[in-house]
Parts: sequence; structure tokens; C-alpha cells
Amino acid sequence: MTDIDHLVGVLTLDEKVSLLTGQDFWSLPAIPRIGLRSLVMSDGPVGVRGTGYTPDDPSTALPSPTALAAAWDPALAERAGRMLGAESRRKGVHVLLGPTVNLHRTPLGGRHFECYSEDPLLTGEIAAGFVAGVQSQGVATTTKHLVGNDFETERMTVDVRIPERALREIYLAPFERVVRAGGWGVMSAYNGVNGASMAANATIQEEILKREWGFDGFVVSDWRAARSTVDTALGGLDVAMPAMDNPWGPTLVEAVRQGRVPLEVIDDKVRRVLLLASRVGALSSDFFDISPMSVDGDAVAREVAVRSFVLVRNEGLLPFTGPDLRRVAVIGALATDARVLGGGSAQLTPAHVISPLDGLRAALPDTEVVHAIGADPRPFLPPAQGPEWSAFVFTTGGHRFTAETGAVRWIGDPPGGQDVGTITELELRTVLTPTVTGEHRIAVSGFGAFELTVGDEKLYQGSLHPPGTGRADLLLNPREQLFTVSLAAGTPTPVVLRQTFEPGAAHSVATTLGHRGPGPDEEGLIAEAVALAARSDVAVIVVGTTEQVESEGFDRTSLALPGRQDELVSRVAAANPRTVVVVNAGSPVLLPWSEEAAAVLLTWFPGQEAGAALADVLLGVAEPGGRLPTTWPRREQDCPVLEVRPADGTLGYDEDIFVGYRGWLRSAARPLYAFGHGQGYTTWAYADITVTGAEARVTLTNTGDRTGREVVQVYLSAEAAPSALARPERWLAGFAIAEAAPGETVTVRIPLPERAFQVWDGGWRTVPGVYSVIAAHALDDPRLTASVTR
Ligand code: BGC
Repeated sequence: MTDIDHLVGVLTLDEKVSLLTGQDFWSLPAIPRIGLRSLVMSDGPVGVRGTGYTPDDPSTALPSPTALAAAWDPALAERAGRMLGAESRRKGVHVLLGPTVNLHRTPLGGRHFECYSEDPLLTGEIAAGFVAGVQSQGVATTTKHLVGNDFETERMTVDVRIPERALREIYLAPFERVVRAGGWGVMSAYNGVNGASMAANATIQEEILKREWGFDGFVVSDWRAARSTVDTALGGLDVAMPAMDNPWGPTLVEAVRQGRVPLEVIDDKVRRVLLLASRVGALSSDFFDISPMSVDGDAVAREVAVRSFVLVRNEGLLPFTGPDLRRVAVIGALATDARVLGGGSAQLTPAHVISPLDGLRAALPDTEVVHAIGADPRPFLPPAQGPEWSAFVFTTGGHRFTAETGAVRWIGDPPGGQDVGTITELELRTVLTPTVTGEHRIAVSGFGAFELTVGDEKLYQGSLHPPGTGRADLLLNPREQLFTVSLAAGTPTPVVLRQTFEPGAAHSVATTLGHRGPGPDEEGLIAEAVALAARSDVAVIVVGTTEQVESEGFDRTSLALPGRQDELVSRVAAANPRTVVVVNAGSPVLLPWSEEAAAVLLTWFPGQEAGAALADVLLGVAEPGGRLPTTWPRREQDCPVLEVRPADGTLGYDEDIFVGYRGWLRSAARPLYAFGHGQGYTTWAYADITVTGAEARVTLTNTGDRTGREVVQVYLSAEAAPSALARPERWLAGFAIAEAAPGETVTVRIPLPERAFQVWDGGWRTVPGVYSVIAAHALDDPRLTASVTR
């Protein structure tokens, strides 16, 4: 064990502060004379992007965090974390920037897909499993974003006013759970809370996190969240990232020299960074090795997806029996271009993506599986791809790469380890050989200055954004320019897209060469899909959101599915009663047709194995294992909390603790699907509940005809109002997974932590009284009740 205090004594002030200040976009500097390597960080919750973000170093893409939470299984979250820890080691990453444990306060939150649940207990349990898994590989996590980043509007500046009780019982609870379980890092949020920006919020970071909870890890700023020197240094922040516009470095050294920041404060931060380095093997002889991947990422991604899919409705349609299927209609633009990831910093480049169409075709080799677009919600043309296109070769700074499609993306370091300052140009070359003569639509989207040439014709030269557009806006709001070109079938047509950058601007690229061949108009597309469904044995429609709907950086303006997808579902379901609707969205969307379709399966953003997992579930190779981690509304206006727009720079959480189902339970409105809802392929009889000490035991029997899994949920309810402080009608106190063969009876033990009986009343206080302990299939489906007195 390295003597950290000794090392702190050896370092100069300049060295100390350099260790707390990003040296580039993702890392802290090495100090070889004390045996310290550079500590490398990387996003994010669904995969390890690494410092690059290109096809030359792809990453396993797991399903969205909402999906991981929908499995209600901390052990599965731990396996997912272990996989990501192993991938981090493969990529030389010491710190994985996740998990995201902000709460599903409102489904309009743009980053809802990246958070786990509307319930703090479920969020904390999943996060603790995830963190244990990543850290088991010697890789640190940063549980983020502390705290109140539950929406995106004005996220850099908004002051979130959170009542003390809600702060403790709801928003801080998952952070506390992970910290007490041994998380090594925390990322502080952009926003302020109760008057102080989080990067400088001493009340939360120093008093609560470090002193009260005994956190010995490090607090890193969100990227460019530290915007001042002294108050962030005094406010509990340990590391300011990235290098760009960083207010620490020499300015902080100067502040220490002037006595405005005590040296002990700096030493405490350095100790935390050195402890981190020693934990991840970046200090002394115990060097962190770049190790080959030791876990089968594809298998984990598929398992998490299957276990996360929530079957919210099934009128005897699923599972399909393969041999009965002669023709399957697979409908939807997202059936071939599945949305496997949410937008923003959680994005990465997977080595492959199995689309729903590919997955079903592979699983049904003897069945005719036919695709129709039906309705396309994507506002931009999809990236050019498919057999009409030759390889997509792009060059930048003299390096040459091949991409799978016409999309080229990276955040942070450019590909090939190039210095961002040296890149001034990107060129993408390919050849389109159309199979159909007619009007082809070709588009360029992204940000920067472009030149597009198709054949001999220069179609575009210009910049898609007005001059002066801010960096974050550029990255999160790409724009598109569309052209129509007449092309003849069989004629190879070279396409060249050139992009130029201001020096230093190439650290973020989201460039797409889009294409759509000649085809029917919107009405024609729907008619084609309806006709296909009518002549097929079953119809599988994939509907969902787009990158312009669910992303970091902005909130949603509506919960409706974009485009004409609702109309498509209704018309297809009317044409074929054996229709299953697959919902490909990271967070709740409205399903106005839910009673028209025979089955509805929510698949979140399902990660790279999307189609393989979908085929497993539709064909009954596996049962869908998910239960809702968040309430799904029938109508937007019924949601207990919708507001995401600050007024005069502040947003008050006036609903206090009544978020999610806590809010739904006290409202007259009923949701479409309650918290915890979801069906498998077998049935369960709950036989007995006993409560002893700090544990509930629930006995249940699998009464169906196949082996299955049940998420046994335990809710508490205060029989008489035992406290002046209002409590929700019911709240989740614990859960466990039961597995049983047909006819088998099993007993699961569910811990009931003391915290479940407590309220924050200036301190944690157990409220004496009689409680109902309810074993339930879902919040709205109680099966057995016992009583307990506290
Ligand atoms: C996000 C963080 C992310 C960081 C680095 C920020 O914009 O809020 O979650 O880890 O960027 O990409």
C-alpha cells in the first residue's frame, strides 16, 4: 500500500494543483517521479466510449439505464458493470463516468432514458449493483450528477429549489446508497441547488457527502461546470474537468499563494486523487494494465435487453410459435434502424447493431420476413448505407478510416490518436450505385462548414448553423440540408463530403451523409405497410422516438410519438388482429392505441443486440423479464409533475416528495401502466407473507406451464397517519426475484431496511406506528398483506 501522506508531502504546489485540473478532454496528468500515471476518464453509463469515438475502437453498447432498471435485478446490474469494467480496462480507462442516478421526476426530462427510475430505492439498488460490478475490475465510477439534474433546460445555470425533505428522501438517497456501499467517485452537476451552484455547493459536497456520509472518494465537476476558482475549491470539488476553460490550474495555485484557499484544502483533494489512483492501479508498481476483454460483451448486452423488455399487454398473442409463421410483417423505420442509444454524452460506436428485422430473419430462417417502413419518424434522412453504397472511407489529418454507414462521429479525441489542434479537414468518400432510377434524396447534417459533391455536381458549400452558435448547441442540435438528385439505376456515382474546422474545433463531430432512394409518399408508405400486414400471419411494428426527441441537452416538448406512427399502429392493428407493437423509446411515450393491438412490448433503447433479444422474446426462447421502473401515463396532463422550464433562473420542486407514483397515488388520474407493471409468460400464485425483524418472506407458486421469473415487490403503507409529515399512500420498501419451474413453490426473502420506515425531519427519524407490508406483482396489483409495528 502506497503511503499517500508521504506522497502529498513530496509534491510541489504546482504539481498538486496540476493533479486536480484536467490536462485535456479526458485525463489528469502523470507525475512519473512519484510513480503516478495519467488517470483516464470516459463516458458513460451504457458503454465505455474510450477517449476516441470512432469505428477503429468500437464499444459494446448495453441497453439504456431505464432498461437496466426495468430488470429490477441488482445482480444483473452488477454483471453489466463487470462487463463495462472489463471493457474500461481493455481501453485503458481508469474512471467510468456513470452511473446516472438523477430521478425520473418528469417524463419530459430529456435525459430520462439515462437515469434509472422514479423511485429512489430502486435507483439506488441498481446503481449500487452497477458500481460494485465496475469497481470489481479495478475501475472507478462517478455516480452523477449530484444533485437535481433531473431536467435539461438551462441546466448550466438553473437554481433548483428542492425542499429539504425531498432532497434527502428522494434526490440524495441514491447517491447516499452508492456512497455507503463504497463508490469511489461522484460527479457534481451543472445546476445549482438551493442557492449555490453544485460545483461550489459546500453544504451538499462537504457537509453531507464527505462529512456526514464519510465519502473518501473524489468529486469531479461535470464537464465545464467549474466556472470559478475559489468557491469551487472551497465547495467540495476535487477535480475540475476538462482542460478547456478550466478555472483551476495556475489561477488556483495563485489563490493558494494569496491565502484565499488553504493548503490543507488542496492536500485533501490531492489525497483523494492519489487514493483513486491507488484504487485503480495507476500509482506505484501496481500499474493498471490494459487487459484484453475478459467478458463476452455481446452476451451481456443480449441478456440485459431480454431481461429489460416489459410486456405491458398480451391478449394471448405472445410468444409466437415459430412453425406457425409463414409470413411475418415487420413494420417501421426503426425496425431496420433501431434506436439503440439515447443522444448526448452517453453515445458511442458499437461494433455491430442487430436490428429487429435482422434479428427476426436470423431466428426464423424458414419464414418469409418482409419489411415495410410504414411511417418514418426521423426528421433527418437516415445515414447512407446498404448494398447500393460502396465503403465509406473517411480521412482526417492524413489518417484513413472506414465507417459502416455515412455517419461519422466522435466526442473528445479525434480518431487515430491525433491532436485536435492539427485537424482542419475531414473528407468522406463513397460511391452510390442506385438500384432504382429516379429522384434520390441526399443530405448533409451536422455542424461546421461543408462541401457536398455528387457525381460532377457540387450541391452544397456552406455552414449549416449561423455564425456564433454556441458549442453545446452545435453538438446537440445538428442541422440538415437536403437535395434531390436524379440518378439512373446501375450508374456508379461518386459522392464526396468535405468538412473544414476552425483550429481546435474538431473535438466534436456529428456528420451524416443521408440518403433515401425513390419511393412512395407518406400516405403510400402507410398503405404499403397495411397491405403487407393484412397478408401476413402476424405483424410486428416497431415505433419510437428519435435523437431529436430524447437526448441530453434539452427536454422533451411532448410525450407523443413523432410523425404518423400512432396512425400507422391503428391502421395496421385494424388490418391484422395478430399485431404486436414494439416500443423503442428510452422513456415513456403516449400509446393512444394500446387497446387496439393484441400485444405491446416496451424495449427501451435496447443496445446493440436489439434484434436478437427481440426475437428471443417474441418467439418465447426467453420470457420478457422487465417491470416498469417508472409510471407510464395515459395522457400527458395527468402526470403529477411536468414542469421543466425554469422561471427567472429557478425551478422549484414544489411537489416535494410526491414524484412518480408517490404523486400519482394522491391524484385522481389513473396511469396507463402503473409502476412495477409487466407480464412474463407464466402465472404466479402468491401464497404467504411473513414479516420477521427486518425482513419479509414471501412464498409463491409458479402456476403456469413454463419456468419463469417474478419480481416480488414489497410496498409499505402507514395504516394510520402516524406522523404529521405527509407520507405517500404506498412506497417501495424492497424487492427480490423469484425463479421457479412449473408447479414449483419458492420463498424469497426481502430485506426491509430501517430507512423504509423513516422520514427526514431534520434528521432520520423512524415513525412509530402500524404499517401494512404488501407483497405485490405491481404497485396496483397487491397480492398479500401483513402488518408490522415500529
Ligand atoms: C455530461 C456528463 C458527461 C460529460 C462528459 C457532460 O455534458 O453532463 O454526464 O459525463 O459531459 O462527456
